[in-house]
Amino acid sequence: MFFEDDLKEDSENMELAECTKNPGFQDSDGGVSVEQPAEQRLSTVVRLDSEYKQLEPFAGMPKEVLLLYSSQARYRIPREVLFWLTLSCALALVAVTATVIALSPRCLQWWQVSPVYQVYPRSFKDSDGDGVGDLKGIQEQIHHFQYLNIKSVWISPFYRSPMKDFGYDVEDFRDIDPRFGTMKDFDELLAKMHSNGLKLIMDFIPNHTSDRHRWFNLSRTRDPHYEDYYVWTDCNATSQRPNNWVSVFGNSSWTYDEVREQCYLHQFLKEQPDLNFRNLHVRKEIIDILVFWLKKGVDGFRMDAVKHILEASHLRDEPQVDPDKPPELIINEWDLHHDYTTTQLGLHDLLREWRAEMNVYSREPGRYRFMVTESYDYNEVGKTMMYYGTPLVKESDFPFNFYLLDLPQNSSGSWVQHLVNIWMNNMPQGQWPNWVVGNHDKPRIATSVGQGYVRVINMLLLTLPGTPTTYYGEEIGMENINITDSQSASRDPQRAPMQWSGDVNAGFNNKTNITWLPVHPDYKSINVEVQKRDERSVLAQYRFLNTLRQAELALSRGWFCYIHADENVFSFLREFDGLRKAFLVVLNFGKEAAITDLSSVSELPEKLEVLMSTMQASDGRVFHKSGIVTEEGEGLLIQYSTHTRFNPSHPGACYISEKACYLEVVDILYTC
Ligand code: GLC
Ligand code: MG
Repeated sequence: MFFEDDLKEDSENMELAECTKNPGFQDSDGGVSVEQPAEQRLSTVVRLDSEYKQLEPFAGMPKEVLLLYSSQARYRIPREVLFWLTLSCALALVAVTATVIALSPRCLQWWQVSPVYQVYPRSFKDSDGDGVGDLKGIQEQIHHFQYLNIKSVWISPFYRSPMKDFGYDVEDFRDIDPRFGTMKDFDELLAKMHSNGLKLIMDFIPNHTSDRHRWFNLSRTRDPHYEDYYVWTDCNATSQRPNNWVSVFGNSSWTYDEVREQCYLHQFLKEQPDLNFRNLHVRKEIIDILVFWLKKGVDGFRMDAVKHILEASHLRDEPQVDPDKPPELIINEWDLHHDYTTTQLGLHDLLREWRAEMNVYSREPGRYRFMVTESYDYNEVGKTMMYYGTPLVKESDFPFNFYLLDLPQNSSGSWVQHLVNIWMNNMPQGQWPNWVVGNHDKPRIATSVGQGYVRVINMLLLTLPGTPTTYYGEEIGMENINITDSQSASRDPQRAPMQWSGDVNAGFNNKTNITWLPVHPDYKSINVEVQKRDERSVLAQYRFLNTLRQAELALSRGWFCYIHADENVFSFLREFDGLRKAFLVVLNFGKEAAITDLSSVSELPEKLEVLMSTMQASDGRVFHKSGIVTEEGEGLLIQYSTHTRFNPSHPGACYISEKACYLEVVDILYTC
């Protein structure tokens, strides 16, 4: 063969030195690389194998040399050991990762992490000087949410509306009211909020439209498609109404329409006719509207007045609370048991349909769409809890918890515990609580309970488990304005312009001198600007607690355990299994100073140091657990370090949404 002949010829001239002078070696030495002809390289290999056994492998050796040595046991065995070692390490790593993922508890979602801040757009910030707040105004104040460490913002309605119920009477669900701005302003606001890590929750009002809505006009003129879009029944202008049903705002919930010569139902104002959800077209319209806003990218909906969505089609009289009351005196909500106008069969199917639609738009990571429902069910808390859905079919993420709105009725620690417990005791297992102390429909808490309790209430909200809600201005202790004219039942007092600064119009609007409602006279001292400069202010404390709450596992997702309640003080623990750091909260809602003896709580250390007092006087103070002193309206947040857990010994006093544990050695959370 050609190669073999060649080899023989060359072998005599070959010197050992040639072997070491391989191209790679020379290269790495900085020498000049000379490409060897292929035949010569091969000849080298053969000779190596047969004759130059003394030659050691060298750096940059050609493949042929490498192959020669690599099969020898001293190279092969370590290589195989290394190979299998690497493979098993990789497999072990995959297994550990899979286990960690499988054992990891779910991360909290955005609507669980931050409080929900309610903006009433008319009153938040007026950018154009017409006296009415607007979307651009909200955009200007985005930094305020960031300052507070708030990530979820619910904006009350800004749809096109005749404003009989300030936006809760919608004329066009796909348009922005010019008083609030344009669709472009909305798109910009949403984009700006998203780019700043904020979520936007819209109000959604399915129960009714404005009487100026196109559908209502088509319905009263009996357009065949729209004829049954609302709830109509026979009646005439002079006779009795079709039944005794009353509106939430008082008087009959039926109004005679001269065009159609029938009565229509309205559970709120007569300018807010109720939609007929027994009509499939109506259902479809409402879903289409949801989809319209979902596609725009809104992050969630606050579903308005849900319990009123369906009514019994038999239209029978509702039973009177006082059966002896003359029927003509049955004019307000409290006079009747609302057996036929609220919480009707089929209601939850509608909510499930909406939830399902929202789920379609929740699939992308980080794009979960949140739903909260509004339903005042008073002593029928079980009805409210239904809005959580069931373990298999979800509805809202939480229904608003309105029970703390009763705080002003009594001032004691036991009362507060009682109100908190209404929720905790009735909430289905594994669900997430929430807390409301004010909104655009209720008197401001700073007025009804008094300025002296604003701080302790904020401390309660921000240390309880679950999502707190904050109605604009609660973070600075804003109060109701006095409205002396005839609108006694009006909800205007709690809707006054936000107090941004001590400037003209409290900084709500600095272009003209108009504001749609008067600014509260206390705005010179109670405003954001002044409170930002004061590290002892209501605002500073709100911000501190909200930031702490999000940073501390025990506060954001730990156990919540009742430990004490009396005529003054309500006290509870927040602890997280495996984590040393725990918190004791002592809140004085009473009318006097109190000394609380917690010596029977053996899980607490003897000495307790105050991390934060709402009155500052006790900041850093160390109490013996048998004598924790609080002033009237004072809240104490005490941080302590322990390995002794309260929750295992007192299961009946403790609650957790989803249990998780902390493993200190590797600094991870796991399901336990
Ligand atoms: C809700 C709103 C309230 C409104 C009513 C009718 O209860 O919070 O402001 O008047 O629904 O839409
Ligand atoms: Mg304006």
